[in-house]
Amino acid sequence: MKVVLINGSPHKSGNTYDMLHDLTEEFHRLGVETELFWIGTGCIHGCIACGRCDKTHRCIFDDDLVNRVIDAMEDADGLIVGSPVYYASPNGSIISAMDRIFYASKDELPNKPGAACVVARRAGTTAALDVLEKYFTITQMPVVSSVYWPMEHGRGPGETRQDEEGIYIMKRLAKNFTWVMKSLEYAKEHGIEPEPMETDRPWTHFIR
Ligand SMILES: Cc1cc2nc3c(=O)[nH]c(=O)nc-3n(C[C@H](O)[C@H](O)[C@H](O)COP(=O)(O)O)c2cc1C
Repeated sequence: MKVVLINGSPHKSGNTYDMLHDLTEEFHRLGVETELFWIGTGCIHGCIACGRCDKTHRCIFDDDLVNRVIDAMEDADGLIVGSPVYYASPNGSIISAMDRIFYASKDELPNKPGAACVVARRAGTTAALDVLEKYFTITQMPVVSSVYWPMEHGRGPGETRQDEEGIYIMKRLAKNFTWVMKSLEYAKEHGIEPEPMETDRPWTHFIR
C-alpha cells in the first residue's frame, strides 16, 4: 500500500515538508509506503491547453514533476498534496502542476483517496484547501478528512513544531487515510467495484 505526497512549497525542508513528515511518520508506523515529490524552485509551466494529453495521457512538458507524479500514481493507492498558503490560495506553482496532473492523467487517479493539507502563518487556510480539494472531487476521488480541517500554522522554518493540534490533525489524517485505503482494498477483494469513469456521459457546455 503506497501513498504519493507532493510538497508544493519552494522550501524543500520548510513548514510544508514538516507537515507532510507528520503524515509520513504515521503512515510508516502503520506499514504504509510513501513517495514524496517536491515542486522545486524552477519554473512550473501552466497548462497551455494544447490537448496533446488527450492522446498520450502525459503532459508535453516533461521537465518537472508532473509526469513523474502521474507515473507514480499508476501503482499508488492515494494522493496527498501539501501547500503553503500564498494570498489565501495554494502556492501558484502547485496550482499549475495540479492543473496539468489532473488534465493529463487518465486512469491513475479516479477512485483513489485524496487529501490536501496546508500551512499558513495565520489566514487563508480554508480557502486554499477548497481549491486543492476540488481537483479530487471532479475526479471521482474520495476526499479523506481528519478531525479538523487539515492545516498547520507557522511562518518561519520549524515554527509549526509548536502547533500541537496541527500535528495531531495530520496524524489522524494519516490514520483515516489508511483506513479508507484498506476499506477500498477490502471492497475490491469482495467484488465491490466503483462506478467507471465512462466517456459517453452527458457533457454539455450550457449553450447546447
Ligand atoms: C508570497 C507569500 C504569500 C503568503 N500569503 C500568506 C497568506 O495569505 N496567509 C498566511 O497566513 N500566510 C501567508 N504566507 C506565509 C506562508 O504561508 C508561511 O510562511 C508558510 O509557513 C510557508 O511554508 P513553507 O515553509 O513550506 O514554504 C505567505 C508567504 C509568501 C511567501
